[in-house]
Amino acid sequence: MQADVQSIAKIELHGHLEGCIYPQVVRRIAERNGITLKEGLFTSADTFAWNDFVEFLGAYDEASFCLRSGEDYEEITYEYLKQCAAEGVIYLETFASPDHAATVGISYADMVQGCARAIDRAEAEFGIIGRLIISCVRHLGPEQAVKVAQLTADNPHPYVVGFGMGGNESMFTQTDFAPAFEIAAAAGLGCTTHAGEVLGPESVWDAIDNLPVTRIGHGVRSVEDAELLLALKDRGVALEVCPGSNLALDVYPDWASHPLNKLIDAGINVSLNSDDPPFFATTVGTEYQNAVDHFAISIEQLKVISRMAVADSFADEETKAKLLARIG
Ligand code: ADE
Ligand code: ZN
Repeated sequence: MQADVQSIAKIELHGHLEGCIYPQVVRRIAERNGITLKEGLFTSADTFAWNDFVEFLGAYDEASFCLRSGEDYEEITYEYLKQCAAEGVIYLETFASPDHAATVGISYADMVQGCARAIDRAEAEFGIIGRLIISCVRHLGPEQAVKVAQLTADNPHPYVVGFGMGGNESMFTQTDFAPAFEIAAAAGLGCTTHAGEVLGPESVWDAIDNLPVTRIGHGVRSVEDAELLLALKDRGVALEVCPGSNLALDVYPDWASHPLNKLIDAGINVSLNSDDPPFFATTVGTEYQNAVDHFAISIEQLKVISRMAVADSFADEETKAKLLARIG
């Protein structure tokens, strides 16, 4: 990272805790827990092995299979916050999935409390503020999503500020998940859903017309529909853009095809995010640097992006004011 990019106070609104574990850490935790990892999880170059979106989701599930306790969640959360702080990130929201935790026998309380211990330690040591967005998994279906939303609503925690949905966008519709999102919104949680990443504009329309969301994860394919761009701007819906992820997953073939600048020019609030760093060979700092290198975004514009991200974050007003003061 260039020194001027490094010095910018960065905000990340879209990263997945289960998707931020590097291969070395997966192996270390698996060994400690006596777990044999699935054959073929890594390439010979020691990255995760996958070839398309569905295989990526499979590798992501397998990586998180090394986890067995709240302490393991604490470890991966702390590692992530530490790495991000070293790149100048001052605030991040990360998705945590109770379904992934439950698969390996970790309760919701243990997961959240483990993450919260890491958030406290990282803020004390590095000044970074971390918050959690509890995520349901789309391909597990609407009924399971309602269970996750209810669990979240029934167990409020000051660091749990949002509710979201990832997973396979080709299964079910956004509307199918309205009951889950209504439970979360009624509990005072900010809401976001992955849309317009694998599917086109119709998925984003479905989300903004039928779910109580103020943000969309990715949403980049909104660029294919001029009316949708206007609707996003008018309704103040922000896009959590993850360019490196989009290129890695072949949503776009190259930087020149990526619509980041078009979305900004349309007056839509965007943030820059890493999504799943070890899977896509990226970091938040890399995404800020890529914005300079591949989208001709200036240092001043990067600060505007950080400020937009604060405004669209699910943090309380006092935290937002503190973050804006740090961005300068
Ligand atoms: N879960 C983790 N990363 C994801 C992505 N890019 N799309 C959908 N679900 C995800
Ligand atoms: Zn994502």
